Parts: sequence; C-alpha cells; structure tokens
Amino acid sequence: MITTMNTLHINGEPIAVTADASTPVLWVLRDNLGLTGTKFGCGIAACGACTVMVDGQAVRSCVLPVGSMAGKRIRTIEGVSASRAGRAVQAAWIALDVAQCGYCQSGQIMSATGLLEQNARPSDAQIVEAMTGNICRCGTYQRIRAAIHRAAESLA
Ligand code: FES
Ligand code: FES
Repeated sequence: MITTMNTLHINGEPIAVTADASTPVLWVLRDNLGLTGTKFGCGIAACGACTVMVDGQAVRSCVLPVGSMAGKRIRTIEGVSASRAGRAVQAAWIALDVAQCGYCQSGQIMSATGLLEQNARPSDAQIVEAMTGNICRCGTYQRIRAAIHRAAESLA
C-alpha cells in the first residue's frame, strides 16, 4: 500500500513524503529526503547508528515505521544545532576530537543530546546507561563520556 504522509515534521519543517507506512524512518530520511547524516548499521535496533530524536526522545529510526510518525517531531543530526544542548554537544565533540572513523558519531551525538536535554548534569553511570545502545567499533567511548561531561559543564 502506498501512503502519502503529509504530517511529518522534520527539523522544524513540515514535509510531505510518499512512502509505504511500514517503511522505516531511516530510509525515508536517507532515500526520500537526502538526509544521509543518519546512518544504517544493523537494521535491528542493536547498534544506534540510526538514532534520531522523536518528540525529544532518542530512538532507533531503522525500526520506526514512518506510518507511526504523524504529528510527531523528528530531529536528525542535520537539525541537532537547533537546541542549546545540541550545540553544546557538537562543540564538545569538536573540542575533544571525539570521532575516529565517524560512522557511529551522528547516532552518538543524538543520544548524547537527548540525554542532556533530560538530565543537564548526568553522572558517569547515567551516561553509560543512556549511551549503552550506541556501539562504536573504533572504541571512542572514553572521549564520548568526557565530551558529554564537557557539554554539561558548558550548559551550567
Ligand atoms: S541501524 Fe538502527 S540500531 Fe543499528
Ligand atoms: S568512530 Fe568509528 S565506529 Fe565510532
């Protein structure tokens, strides 16, 4: 069944998208809209590469049917700087040179931003818990944790 979705809100803009309602949001972003900052890693909600924010919550877009998104607000890495926390996370990532190959990093940044928008001063344990579903094959976990603390300090 082909469905015209005309109520998607992505990075603050209403966007009409034609896609089967069961199509994962990840593929609508990448293939229909050219927002390729959101990455495909596993397709089964196990790696975090595809993380976006929906109504302020970090979620895995590879298992999110676009048909469930009517009226919800989607934020991708392309729109992360719209929030103060997102800008702080980006600045900390750059300052601490967090990325290695970079493939996982848009998902990491979205999860980190989601965390700081809900908890402005997370502990190490809270960071580990919030970021646990975001896998980094390059092992940048220590820099990620340090960058989240740095971003939190800059928001204080
Ligand atoms: S691609 Fe979605 S969690 Fe891995
Ligand atoms: S920076 Fe390479 S997978 Fe995370």
